[in-house]
Amino acid sequence: MNVAAPQPKENMGQPLPRIDARLKVTGQAEYAADLPAANIAHAVLATSSIAKGKVARLYLDDARSVPGVLDIVTYGDLDKVETPKFGNTGASSIGPLHDKAIFHDGQIIALVVAETFEAAEEAAQRIRADYAEEKPTASFDMPGTKTIDAAGKSPLFKEDVKAGDFDAAYESAPMKIDARYSTPTQHHNPIELFSTTAVWQGDQLTVYEPSQNVTGWKVELARQLRLDPANVRIVCPNVGGAFGSKGPMTARTAIVAVAARRLGRPVRCVVSRMQAFGTQTYRAETRHRIRIGAGKDGRITAFGHEGWEVTSRPDSYVVGGTSATGRMYAYGSVLTHVSLVQADRNTPGYMRSPPETPYVYALESAMDEMAVALGMDSIEFRRINEPQKEPIGGKPFSSRSLMKCYDQAADAFGWTRRDAKVGSMRDGDWLVGMGCATAVYPTAGAPCAARVRLTAEGDVRVQCGSHEIGTGVRTVAGQMAAERLGVDIGKVAVEMGDSALPPAPVSGGSISTASVCSAVLKACDAVRTKLFAAAVAESGPLAGSHNEELDLHEGRILTKGGASASTADIFKAMQVGAIEEYAEFAPKGSTPEALKKLYAGQSEFHGGESDADSVKYAFGAEFVEVHINSYTREIRVPRIVGAFAAGRIMNTRTARSQLMGGMIWGIGQALHEATEIDTRYARYVNRDLQDYLVPVNADVRDLDVILVPEIDHEVNPAGVKGLGELGNVGTAAAVASAVYHATGKRIRDLPIRIDDLIV
Ligand code: MOS
Repeated sequence: MNVAAPQPKENMGQPLPRIDARLKVTGQAEYAADLPAANIAHAVLATSSIAKGKVARLYLDDARSVPGVLDIVTYGDLDKVETPKFGNTGASSIGPLHDKAIFHDGQIIALVVAETFEAAEEAAQRIRADYAEEKPTASFDMPGTKTIDAAGKSPLFKEDVKAGDFDAAYESAPMKIDARYSTPTQHHNPIELFSTTAVWQGDQLTVYEPSQNVTGWKVELARQLRLDPANVRIVCPNVGGAFGSKGPMTARTAIVAVAARRLGRPVRCVVSRMQAFGTQTYRAETRHRIRIGAGKDGRITAFGHEGWEVTSRPDSYVVGGTSATGRMYAYGSVLTHVSLVQADRNTPGYMRSPPETPYVYALESAMDEMAVALGMDSIEFRRINEPQKEPIGGKPFSSRSLMKCYDQAADAFGWTRRDAKVGSMRDGDWLVGMGCATAVYPTAGAPCAARVRLTAEGDVRVQCGSHEIGTGVRTVAGQMAAERLGVDIGKVAVEMGDSALPPAPVSGGSISTASVCSAVLKACDAVRTKLFAAAVAESGPLAGSHNEELDLHEGRILTKGGASASTADIFKAMQVGAIEEYAEFAPKGSTPEALKKLYAGQSEFHGGESDADSVKYAFGAEFVEVHINSYTREIRVPRIVGAFAAGRIMNTRTARSQLMGGMIWGIGQALHEATEIDTRYARYVNRDLQDYLVPVNADVRDLDVILVPEIDHEVNPAGVKGLGELGNVGTAAAVASAVYHATGKRIRDLPIRIDDLIV
């Protein structure tokens, strides 16, 4: 292509407000369940009140007698529908209405459709069931669990990473840590509720549903309903929070589509927050055993990480963060093992930085414990163990600015003011503690397509089937187009969240900015190529110049020699009103099949640990100050500072927002969040935002994000590392470290609560 390499210009990196900010704050942004459909009927789920057994008989007459009830979809009504699949696109293999077996509490047993939401709700509550009930197993340590290896058993897990002779190195190490940690069940609670609206026009099905993977869902829903994927469309122009919960499709989508087809009317089902706990995915509870062996000089010679995670009976979902923890420092030797513990639970799934959040919590807590045992500063201990190459495959890091992050964050935080002696710092009645920990997240990208249109008036339209889940990807895609096409950001419209658009990968794994911007860049460059060719053509306004010497800026094409022409004149010469180009991006190392897979709804990730040339990660360092009331043991986090290096930053405002949100979530993981389970019934009990605690404004005071400059051309042409999931990795370990510093109590089981600190 006769186009100069992309150079950062004033647009990229700027803290531009989101292009959809006004729509969002004025309530005009449309979400899936807002989209109008004429003559709509409303549906409500009825769910199981047992966690294990079988539905023996359903009593529906009472429900049917509610005025306005139109239909009840239940067992036998999905005979011609394929069962769901478990994997990246499907949340679970449980087909709740295909089979009367009950695998977990809150499993769908029927869908009631009525003229109004209220009638459907009342009728759903009037459904009664006789069950053949068995005693359920809720979690770890209960009779009836079955433990299996993740490796070889789960499609989502590659291998237990290893290096060297761990046993010998650990045995002979002069300093040893052997500690166990745990994290609880956590549920995503996006403010936008889960919903499905199904609209049929003949054999064409349109589903309005918040999704992180519209192309994947289109294909999977078509498979379940035995339709041509060309006849299925998934639409969600905005998504009100997702965090992984809207990544894999759940069984409800097909059930609502069946209801709409039977009724011959559009059907909408908005799932209550309470029912979402059992019908969507969640973060599995995890347990860890970490062993670290080190010399007296602080050099680690042995690192062992064993993980255990709860999953459902039929599906082997894996959190599995050892791939990252096993590569984090210069360990000498590594031994890891991940086990899955099956219980009578719904299938867990992705939840913001799924592997790293719990696994790095355990690693970083153990690192802090070892630093204390060595009598060494926590930052220095990590500095001593900075690797030249990652220990598993011996590959270099494409870039690694971890210690720069530590240094800048430590400086801003005032780490030197910390008195290392436990319990030595006070502020009146409050014990003061300071702690820090590492954040890390793999950098990947996936094939992506985009279409870009530039008009003679300088209006730009970008189309890409990615998803604005709150990250700001619509804005950075717009910035990329504005920069390359030399227009003001206000002239750019970005369409996303529709499987009818050019396909994009799942908006997960922090890959969207890199993947989407790379495709938009290619499409823009194709538009430029056409414009430039017309400009230098014999009949063009810049005849005689060369393509390679041209640039495009503020609606004008400029030559190196100082001549210029307006793009409007070039359009006039071309006798067209607009140029539209379609481009496909495939990351380096993609197989020839990768683009085909993109159209089939499968996202082929490249990067992280999987590339041959290097491992690719973004890093950060987080510092936390806690205040613990010496009488009541109330825990406060007055200050948190994070420094992050994630390659080229496309928009410092949206980047900062992501990192800030991640750290706030990390405070929640440390101190608030846990799904409580009544183990007698294997039932979630705090199924609402009153009882499921998350940090509120009063829990967050000073919060500082530092963006550490970093250039990495190896990760992708744009030099962008993802950072949507980086911020909440490490926070909980930093809080736990600060709590230890304040009190001398090492709390290894999250969340840390007042009761843990009362002597
Ligand atoms: Mo994220 S949990 O990869 O949506």
